[in-house]
Amino acid sequence: DTRDPTSLRTPIVAVLGHVDHGKTSLLDKIRGSAVIEGEAGAITQHIGATAVPLDIISTIAGDLVDPDDFDLPGLLFIDTPGHHSFTTLRSRGGALADIAILVVDVNDGFQPQTLEALEILKRSQTPFIVAANKIDTVPGWNPKEDVPINDTYESQSDRVRQRLDESLYEIIGNLSDEGFSADLYWRVQNFQRNIGVVPVSAMTGEGVPDLLTVMMGLSQRYMKEEMEIDVAGPGVGTVLEVKEEKGFGTTIDTVLYDGTIRADDTIVVGGMNKPIVTEVRALLQPRPLAEIRTESRFEKVDEVSAASGIKVAAPDLADAMAGAPVRVVRDRDLEEVIAEVEAELADIAVDTEEQGVVVKADTLGSLEAMADALDEAEVPIVRAEVGDVAPRDISVASTAEDPKQRAILGFNVDVLSDAEQRAEIEDVTLFTDEVIYQLIEEYEQHVEELER
Ligand code: GTP
Ligand code: MG
Repeated sequence: DTRDPTSLRTPIVAVLGHVDHGKTSLLDKIRGSAVIEGEAGAITQHIGATAVPLDIISTIAGDLVDPDDFDLPGLLFIDTPGHHSFTTLRSRGGALADIAILVVDVNDGFQPQTLEALEILKRSQTPFIVAANKIDTVPGWNPKEDVPINDTYESQSDRVRQRLDESLYEIIGNLSDEGFSADLYWRVQNFQRNIGVVPVSAMTGEGVPDLLTVMMGLSQRYMKEEMEIDVAGPGVGTVLEVKEEKGFGTTIDTVLYDGTIRADDTIVVGGMNKPIVTEVRALLQPRPLAEIRTESRFEKVDEVSAASGIKVAAPDLADAMAGAPVRVVRDRDLEEVIAEVEAELADIAVDTEEQGVVVKADTLGSLEAMADALDEAEVPIVRAEVGDVAPRDISVASTAEDPKQRAILGFNVDVLSDAEQRAEIEDVTLFTDEVIYQLIEEYEQHVEELER
């Protein structure tokens, strides 16, 4: 075995899809299978992520995966709540996720957030496969726990098979309507050109071996070069979420995609107004499930290497933004690192006009996606920021001369209660939604009503 594990990092896999289509269940199933195999310890729980090493993947996938065929160390799965816009998070101008699984309920088919996810995958050119989930709910299904799809398919009745085929072809048709050429995964030769559809059940585990095999193969085949990193070098990552943590103050949940971060490092983080330079106080990893209920939910670690999810506690993080870059300084020139963070922030910055609507979003990436969509709809923006809708946003919106522009569009954000009151007094209309195109439709309807 000549592989050098220090030079290839784990690909970052985003699991996305419409609410309740089974994203979390699918990851639970993968984690659970490892527990049954008695290898639970091998799977590490990260902040917002689960790392599954190659040997576990190969255990679950059985005959489908020969570990000798691979030199990537495994897969890092990031679960995203249906309403969260993880896919809009970026790394150095590209998508933070190297690869994605779009989960679609076979019975429920395409839904608004499925389309939204596809739109974002298309824009960021992230390779992905579709997990056609809940195949066990096809009426008459005869479950066969944890087996590859071929084995279970063969043991279904003709009628059941026909029903499943119909649902799968509907999904393939929907993908085609969105401009993706797709087919059942075993018919796909080139996964970059065609989207593979993998039938699975997160409940019975059927098809999960196939899913892991396809993901591993896809990463190995098309992503190997991008995974070559200097593991020991200064860490580079993206802020997933900014959170208050009891005893630690403001912390940043970070996905590290390059290098190493240590508990004594100085870091530069993208902030609301300018880059924040601060010293790491603690690196925190979630404790295994059983210990979560005990007094401390986190374990302090000395260092973490890419790819991983890690909570970073440090002073002065209140102005950090979800989606912003994080860079370790270590032996590098501080000014140079600050300049890199500034350049990355400038790259995601949104162009604003003298007059227009106010836009708020949960991450820098989703703010950018909103700006693109509004540009297409020819709606000018006066102010675009990451964060909840606050009273000062109302003040800005209330200065608009054009009544159409006395509006705030919030994507995946909350409206602070004093802001809501202010909006009513100032006659500013608030729109919030968890799907970009719906948000813009609501606003356009409002404009139509005003013009009537
Ligand atoms: P959000 O995080 O809210 O977006 O949902 P999710 O996509 O993570 O879905 P989740 O895994 O929470 O599953 C939603 C529901 O579907 C739960 O009640 C699951 O038990 C059920 N479910 C998920 N996968 C399957 C499956 O393969 N078969 C069956 N029968 N039920 C499933
Ligand atoms: Mg979930």
